[in-house]
Amino acid sequence: MRVSIVGSGYVGTTIAACFADMGHDVVNVDIDEETVDAINDGRSPIHEPGLDDLLATHGGDALTATTDYEDILETDITFLALPTPSREDGSIDTSTIEAAAETLGDTLRTKDGDHVVVTKSTVIPTTTAETLAPILADASGKELGEDLHTAMNPEFLREGTAVKDFRNPDKVVFGTDDDTALDALYEVFAPLVESSDIPVVETGVEEAEMIKYANNAFLASKVSLINDIGNICKEYGVDAYEVADAIGLDERIGVRFLRSGLGWGGSCFPKDTKAIIHAANDAGYEPAVLEAAVDVNDRQPERLLSLLDDHVDVAGERVAVLGLSFKPGTDDVRNSRAIPVIEGLQKRGATVAAYDPVAAENIRAHFPDIEYSDSPEHALEGASACLVCTDWDEFAALDDEFDAMDKPVVVDGRRVIERRDGLTYEGLTW
Ligand code: UGA
Repeated sequence: MRVSIVGSGYVGTTIAACFADMGHDVVNVDIDEETVDAINDGRSPIHEPGLDDLLATHGGDALTATTDYEDILETDITFLALPTPSREDGSIDTSTIEAAAETLGDTLRTKDGDHVVVTKSTVIPTTTAETLAPILADASGKELGEDLHTAMNPEFLREGTAVKDFRNPDKVVFGTDDDTALDALYEVFAPLVESSDIPVVETGVEEAEMIKYANNAFLASKVSLINDIGNICKEYGVDAYEVADAIGLDERIGVRFLRSGLGWGGSCFPKDTKAIIHAANDAGYEPAVLEAAVDVNDRQPERLLSLLDDHVDVAGERVAVLGLSFKPGTDDVRNSRAIPVIEGLQKRGATVAAYDPVAAENIRAHFPDIEYSDSPEHALEGASACLVCTDWDEFAALDDEFDAMDKPVVVDGRRVIERRDGLTYEGLTW
């Protein structure tokens, strides 16, 4: 099938490469020339495991990138994979995806025959039907349900494992009440779903939009709930990880997303929880559990710092911060829990020595004046405390390195360092 994707972020590029690998002819449209050149040269414009190989195989061949919307005319179906970032008030900014729908509509004006447009971006229920579809119809002169067909197909890809997640999804969701759009989605996904038992959920457009928010809201709340329970555990000297391992055996609870600690960051959970709370408030409803989930998450960094305060007054002292990315396996620092932790240290007058295997450059814009160490060892040298903010595997191997500290106090926000003799060790929830 001939497939186009507008947007070459981690979602757009991943699905473009995976669709090409499934045997489709794929066009990826992006405004950024460098991104387009990279894809056509067979290089990945982003760091995502598995993507380099897929682009080396298909880039410039089954997958071509372009800045020109006209190339979409050669395709049958277009996925809109554009950012819907948070506004100041928590609502989503749909201006980019609306502008893309307008340009796509203008382009489709010269196309004879049917075209299917699928929202891949995360959008509040009714956005596809009430905002994007009318823009597409007006700009293209096509008629919805006649020669213009719309659908919503949310993504559940995690940064760092996006290719793997695409190939092994828990479910694929087709949201549409348009038979032509549904048939087209089945054709695109056939190589993935036909030879497997991956469940395909056929549902309405608004339900598909909400499924994405519900998925992320549920997972974020699950982490906040285990953090809430973990905080109680800490008060009673109970190990929250032993408790989580046990309750996770109950199939109704499940073992995943039960790692308590500093909480969630990234570009998705914080943005999506805020957006759906804002949308609920707009509609006159207060989602109390979700608001509490955000509140618990916001407080975890300060809890970590208060554990530190119990052991050291860090004013004028060197403090090592290990881990800056919002989770291991990525250099993304958006909403990383390390940010409020470092801010809290600065407020206390500490001198921060930060280390991350890949994310230091990205956090520099937030903290231009702290020290960036090139190894955990250097960060720890002469430090009066160490705070662990990201569960990078390499931190688990640290041992003698702690001997170089001035005072060996370790406050671990991610359960990655082993308790050992000679260390004053505090776990956030254990
Ligand atoms: C998340 C969802 O997991 C994806 O399904 C979704 O497609 C994506 O958002 C999105 O909306 O695009 P992602 O933000 O890449 O993916 O990261 P996760 O692996 O879900 O982790 C999110 C945060 O939760 C991280 O800060 C992580 O450290 C934290 N977390 C996760 C915990 O604190 N404990 C856990 O047990 C699991």
